Amino acid sequence: MASQSKILITGATSGLGREIALQMAARGESILASGRRQNRLTALEARSDITGLALDLSSPDNITLACANMPALSGVILNAGITFADDFTSGDYETDNALIQTNVGANVQLIRALLPNLKQSQGRILIIASLGGLTPLPYQAVYAGTKAFMINFGLSLREELKHEGIKVGVFAPGGIKTEMTDIPAMKALEKDLAPVESVAAAAVKAYDKMPALCVPGAQNKLIAGFSKLAPRSFIAGQAEKIYRKARQDSKSD
Ligand SMILES: NC(=O)c1ccc[n+]([C@@H]2O[C@H](COP(=O)([O-])OP(=O)(O)OC[C@H]3O[C@@H](n4cnc5c(N)ncnc54)[C@H](OP(=O)(O)O)[C@@H]3O)[C@@H](O)[C@H]2O)c1
Repeated sequence: MASQSKILITGATSGLGREIALQMAARGESILASGRRQNRLTALEARSDITGLALDLSSPDNITLACANMPALSGVILNAGITFADDFTSGDYETDNALIQTNVGANVQLIRALLPNLKQSQGRILIIASLGGLTPLPYQAVYAGTKAFMINFGLSLREELKHEGIKVGVFAPGGIKTEMTDIPAMKALEKDLAPVESVAAAAVKAYDKMPALCVPGAQNKLIAGFSKLAPRSFIAGQAEKIYRKARQDSKSD
């Protein structure tokens, strides 16, 4: 088992990435779990066949170094991500830039650097995007932009890399109960958040089957289907009303 190729999962110190790592390790996969919080990585290592990799995705130099020392991989799950859930006008460029680097720049760099490794194993890449990349998402505008990038990037890459024997799939969940959504702005929408265990199980299934785009959950599938029919400007307007009300409700609680 020690020499088994590993599956790299980014953002495995909490939420969806951690749960995917645990579920995949439980079925015998050898997992390389990355994140910044060393105590969380150490706790994961104590549980099963999981190796921790301290990696700050905000640093391109750190990514280059990590990729140069990467063990043989059979797959990569690009899950790490951050958001900024507030008026765009209340943000700043430093926050925007960190979001774009973590959600987009790091993933593009990782895929490029790991191509030879994945080509060797005829491996697979699962990109964790979001329903918020299929529909406009006012009050998470930069986040929605990064996830739309990852969906188009992933689906484009899928067609190119199939000729290299590498499978690429995109996973686009709706709201999940994790640290990311454990913030005042999301409080009013808490009841609509899916449990992380079931979303992780759907992500593991997507990793196995590698459909081009997997949207887990009946309601999310409906929204994704509607997004193909309705004008994006209409969806943006409706979403703005829903999120503005949710933010007002959260503030008045
Ligand atoms: N929660 C939702 O409602 C939802 C919905 C749709 C899609 N998603 C997507 O699902 C993915 C996981 O989100 P989550 O909800 O599980 O969030 P989470 O619980 O906040 O976990 C985020 C993970 O990303 C890692 N991370 C953040 N910044 C990093 C950096 N600079 N370098 C390295 N790792 C970094 C964190 O690890 P460290 O802090 O230890 O570095 C953590 O492990 C994200 O891509 C998110 O966009 C989430």
